[in-house]
Order: sequence, then structure tokens, then C-alpha cells
Amino acid sequence: MKIFIDTANVEEIRKATNWGVIDGVTTNPSLVAKEGREFTELIREVISIIDGPISVEVISTDVEGMIKEAVELSEWSSNIVVKIPMIPEGLKAVKVLSAKKIKTNVTLVFSVNQALLAAKARATYVSTFVGRLDDIGHEGMQIVREMVEIFNIYDFSTEVIAASIRHPMHVIEAAKAGAHVATIPFTVIEKMFKHPLTDIGLKRFLEDWKKVESRD
Ligand code: E4P
Repeated sequence: MKIFIDTANVEEIRKATNWGVIDGVTTNPSLVAKEGREFTELIREVISIIDGPISVEVISTDVEGMIKEAVELSEWSSNIVVKIPMIPEGLKAVKVLSAKKIKTNVTLVFSVNQALLAAKARATYVSTFVGRLDDIGHEGMQIVREMVEIFNIYDFSTEVIAASIRHPMHVIEAAKAGAHVATIPFTVIEKMFKHPLTDIGLKRFLEDWKKVESRD
């Protein structure tokens, strides 16, 4: 499973990229707004940090507007993946962009039927918001599981992204569900590193090492 970082914060992207475990980045308008920076400058900095897919969302909701934005964004880097909302106009745009070889990520997907339509439109990725489904009492990961199963049956090339990840257990569940990608906030990636027994074990090794006679 590929790991994308779900943030528009360049410090977080830089740090996680240096750890060597990040395959790409996903942003959305809310994450970009949180940074309080000029959009183009921010995305160009992200492009300079990581060599992997970088999802950036359009804000138009009509097909012409989405295609125009997507074409412009895709000219910034071959790593740009254009995020398109899961609405009928969006899927029309995805079909056109796929013919132009522009990569797309259909976002705000909350059902298997929506995912199926996005795959039919030849989306590169489809993002299911697991945490937001959990929030309203649905098992978000079940949608991911069923999407992976159906995409495999029909050999769709669309990759399933488990998004809206809230905690480390979501990551394990996404991997077990066969998600191609989990897009994870920085704080959750940090938590994935942690185990108290690792810290206790390392402390003990280093203390014991002090008792070893120096070879000098
Ligand atoms: C996905 O691409 C979205 O940016 C993100 O995962 C949404 O997460 P949230 O539900 O925590 O806002």
C-alpha cells in the first residue's frame, strides 16, 4: 500500500519525505486555506519537495471550468493529480481529462456506486472518506473493502485511496482492505512510528552499552 501525506503544510511534507516512507501528497481547499499562503507559490513549493503524485483540487463545479483548471494545474508538473468532486459534471470532466492523459482523483466519495461510476469515467484514483463515514455511524472501511473487491473483479485500473484517516488503526484496516493508497495526516504518520517497548528497549540497549569495555 502506498502512503500519501494528507496535508498542504510544507514543513510536514518535507519532514515526512525525509523519513523515506511517503509516496505522494493529497491536498484539498480546506487544507490549503489553513496554510494562509498564496496558492500557486505553495503548490510549486510542494512540487519541489516530493517526486510523487500531488493531488490538487479544482474549485469550479462546471465541466468547462474544471477542465480549464485541470489543464492549467497539470502544466505545473507531471506529478500533479487533479482532484475532481464526485458530481455528474465532475465525471464528465474526468472522462475528458483521462483522454488528455491528465491524472485525476475523484474526491468526496462515500458509496460503492459513486466509486464504480468514477472508475467507469477512468479516474486515476478515487478517494473514499473513511473517517467522515465513521462520524455518521457508517463503517467507512467497508466501502473501501467492497471497492477493492469490485475493481479487482473488473480489472479497473483506478486506484482506491482510503482518505479521511483519523488514527493508526484506520491505516491497518486500509491495508487489510487492500486499498492501493492510504492518505494520512502527519500526526497519524508520527503515531505509526511509536511503540513504548521500542523506546524502553533502545534506552536499555544504550545503558547496557556503557558497561561494555572500550576497545580503544
Ligand atoms: C482526502 O483527500 C481529503 O483531503 C482528506 O482525507 C479529508 O480528511 P478529513 O475528513 O479529515 O477532512
